[in-house]
Amino acid sequence: MTTPKVIVFTCNWNAYSGLETAGVEHLSYPPSVYPLKVMCLGQISPGIILKAFEKGAEGVLLLGCPAGNCHFEFGNRRVEEVFAEAKGLAAVLGYRDEQLRLDWVGAGEGQVFVDKVQQFISGLNGRQQA
Ligand code: FES
Repeated sequence: MTTPKVIVFTCNWNAYSGLETAGVEHLSYPPSVYPLKVMCLGQISPGIILKAFEKGAEGVLLLGCPAGNCHFEFGNRRVEEVFAEAKGLAAVLGYRDEQLRLDWVGAGEGQVFVDKVQQFISGLNGRQQA
């Protein structure tokens, strides 16, 4: 089974710290996962998410700071609205529910970062096998 191409948008703070910790601890995830760092997930727009699909991503995972921990205070609340809008647009365009997910990773949580990426890929693969 091939591993699906996945774009993981991480904010520069908690979520990226999780990714860095995963690297320091030599934890791995498939090479078809492409992390893209933004300063805060609150900067993401539905258009950027849909562009990732247009460019060939089979899945788009948004990983940001847990509630109350956004470096810019409200970015992780704003991305919930953006996510809902993108989810609706993606459904209209024919993308499946499991192809787009929003989740949170705390600072330094390398294993959590890897687990969330792997769970997301498992969801994509599970649907592909059905
Ligand atoms: Fe992480 Fe805003 S800085 S979600």
